[in-house]
Amino acid sequence: MTTQPLRSVLVANQKGGVGKTSIVTSVASMVAATGRRVLIVDADQQANATVSDLGVEGDGGGALSMALQYAQPLAPLKDVRPNLDLIAGGTALALVGAAANTAAHSGIDMRANLLQVMSALQEQESYDLVLVDSGPGDAPLLDALLGSCTYLVVPTKDDDASLSGVELLARRYLRARRDGAAIELLGVVLFDVNPRATVRNREAMGQIEDLLEGSNAQPFQTMIRSDRAAAVDLRTRHLTPSELVAAAEEHQRTRIQQLRTKIAGERRMWSRDPSGLASDYQLLTREILQRVAERETATVPGGVA
Ligand SMILES: Nc1ncnc2c1ncn2[C@@H]1O[C@H](COP(=O)(O)OP(=O)(O)O)[C@@H](O)[C@H]1O
Ligand SMILES: [Mg+2]
Repeated sequence: MTTQPLRSVLVANQKGGVGKTSIVTSVASMVAATGRRVLIVDADQQANATVSDLGVEGDGGGALSMALQYAQPLAPLKDVRPNLDLIAGGTALALVGAAANTAAHSGIDMRANLLQVMSALQEQESYDLVLVDSGPGDAPLLDALLGSCTYLVVPTKDDDASLSGVELLARRYLRARRDGAAIELLGVVLFDVNPRATVRNREAMGQIEDLLEGSNAQPFQTMIRSDRAAAVDLRTRHLTPSELVAAAEEHQRTRIQQLRTKIAGERRMWSRDPSGLASDYQLLTREILQRVAERETATVPGGVA
């Protein structure tokens, strides 16, 4: 059997709070739930994917930072969920930016290191999909990720500051491509929107289309709806969207009983029905996989179509 080609989807926007981490953990867990082997690379010093969303302690980003600096091989945490492995993030990644600033002296090439380490890992593990989370503002690390991933997904909220983050990232992306990166922009996804505000959403989609002009990419049809109650439960309970749907159903079933017994230390469940949010992630997952498949059939391996 031949090795799966490495399909790594970087989720990035230089703005924070636009849904990068939520999208990475939700999409990764949904693809893994279909039986495919998935890896999350948490390339953020805040480690929200590792600690908050997945509830894993990890190594503080130590291994990933050694891989970036010295091409040290990576050993993922296996099965943090069924079929889902993880390379943990954390504060050790802060060192990476500092190291990169002296790259001229030390000769460290984080992009080359990451390409080497990820392809060795793929030989071994043959993942169907790799999702890469990125942090805000860490320019050298972001450039290394843009230079070494296969695909790019850019989430944004509909406010001007987030949209200008898309514009900044689009420029960085084009520069990475000019410098020889193979990364392809799959699309932009609107996050934290009111699904009923159709006029506003259409306007935001129009703005995104303008920003993407010349990039050969379209906004995703799926938008991720605002659901603050579900967002709190997802993070404090370390659940994926599907796990939260199951937990909320279970909670409803046992609610009367709980009201009577008032179990001590029982944490409040904020979301009543997180299934709408979960189904947004399901649709986005499908769209991302479709776009990956389209790009792959458009590329004839080893030659020009
Ligand atoms: N559907 C949602 N509606 C509203 N807020 C959300 C939703 N999903 C997540 N959030 C919250 O939005 C914030 C930013 O999300 P996050 O995924 O961490 O973005 P980023 O990784 O870009 O910083 C977090 O506090 C998260 O809990
Ligand atoms: Mg994040």
